[in-house]
Amino acid sequence: MNGPGISNGLRKRRNPITEAVTPGFAGSFKLNSPSRSPATTGPRIVFRSPFLPWTANLKVIGVTEEERGVCGLAVNTIHIMDCVEGMRRLQAGSVDVIVTSPPYNIGKNYNSYHDRKPRQDYLEWMGEVAAEAARVLADDGSFFLNVGGKPRDPWIPFDVVQRFRAHFELQNVIHWIKSIAIEKEDVGDYDRIAGDIAVGHYQPVNSPRYLSQCHEHIFHLTKNGDVTLDKLAIGVAYQDKSNIGRWKAAKRDLRDRGNTWFIPYPTIRSSLPHPTTFPVKLPEMCIRLHGCRPGLLVLDPFMGIGSTALAAISLGVDYIGFEIDPAYRGIAKTRIEEACRRRGDPGD
Ligand SMILES: C[S@@+](CC[C@H](N)C(=O)[O-])C[C@H]1O[C@@H](n2cnc3c(N)ncnc32)[C@H](O)[C@@H]1O
Repeated sequence: MNGPGISNGLRKRRNPITEAVTPGFAGSFKLNSPSRSPATTGPRIVFRSPFLPWTANLKVIGVTEEERGVCGLAVNTIHIMDCVEGMRRLQAGSVDVIVTSPPYNIGKNYNSYHDRKPRQDYLEWMGEVAAEAARVLADDGSFFLNVGGKPRDPWIPFDVVQRFRAHFELQNVIHWIKSIAIEKEDVGDYDRIAGDIAVGHYQPVNSPRYLSQCHEHIFHLTKNGDVTLDKLAIGVAYQDKSNIGRWKAAKRDLRDRGNTWFIPYPTIRSSLPHPTTFPVKLPEMCIRLHGCRPGLLVLDPFMGIGSTALAAISLGVDYIGFEIDPAYRGIAKTRIEEACRRRGDPGD
C-alpha cells in the first residue's frame, strides 16, 4: 500500500489548520508540519528549526481535501477519539516514537475523564494501551511513558509499568526532576556555582508522613531493549573542562546527561488550563534522545492540551494524537496556532 506521500504506513496529509470531520471520527484538528513529502498543492509553510540543520529550507505543501481520510488516520492531527480505538486504526509498526502521560488514576479533576477507576480496571486498561502501543510502534521505536504517583500511593508508576512488561523491554528509567535543592558544599569547587540552589516548582504536601513529590518517572520502553539513542542530542557541557580530551569518548564539550532530567514547569501549574500537563521540553527531550530524522512520526495517545504536538512541531517531525475531550483539543489548537505565529509561519 505504500506509495508517494506515504511513509510509516500512514498517508501524510498536509492540510492547513482546519476543523475537519474525517469520516468515522468525532473530529480532528489538522496542522501543517514540516516534512520532506513531495510537493502537491495547497499553502506553503517554510519551517526552520534552530536544532536541526536538515530543516534549513524545508518546504511543506498542503494537500487537497480529497486526500483526507483515504488510508486510515491523518497525521499532524489530534483526533477526538479513545486512544485504544485510535491506535487500533493505525498500521502495525507505523509509529517511531510514543511520548505520553496517561491519567494516573489519582482523582485529578479532568473536564470529562473520571480519574478514579477501581485499581484493577485501571490497570487492565493500561494493559490494553500497552498492547496497542506495542503493535503500532516500529521495531526500532521508543516509547517514553511518563507516570507519577501521589504521596499516599507511590506504587502507581510501578504497577502501571508492570502492565507494559509483557510487551516491552525496559531500556531506561528516566527521572523527571521538577524541583531540586543543591547545597554549595556538596557541589565542590565550581566557581560558577556561587551558593546553595533550590529551583523548580512542586505541590507542597502538608503531611508529617509524606514527602512532597518533586519527581516523576519516565519509563523508556522498547521492543528489544537495543535501540541506539542519540545521547549527545540532549547532552550537557562538562563542568570541569579538563575532562575534554581526557577520554576517547570526550572529544568535545558535551557529555551524556544521564537519566536525571531537571525540567521545571515554566509557570506555576495552577495557571494552566489542564490539571496534569507536562512541559513541552519533556517530549522534546524524549524525541531528541531517540533521534530526530525527517519523516519521524510521534504518537501521543493521551494528547491533553497538545504538549507533544508542540514538541514535534518545534523539532520538525510529524505527530498524531488522541484525546477524548474536545475542550482540551481546542486549547491544543490555540497553542499550536500561537507557536506557529511566533515562529513566523502563517498557520492557516
Ligand atoms: C495526563 S493527561 C495528558 C496531558 C498531556 N501530556 C499534556 O501535556 O497536555 C491525560 C489526558 O488523557 C485524556 N484521556 C483520558 N482517557 C482517554 C482515552 N481513553 N483516550 C484518549 N485520551 C484520554 C484526558 O482527557 C487527559 O487530557
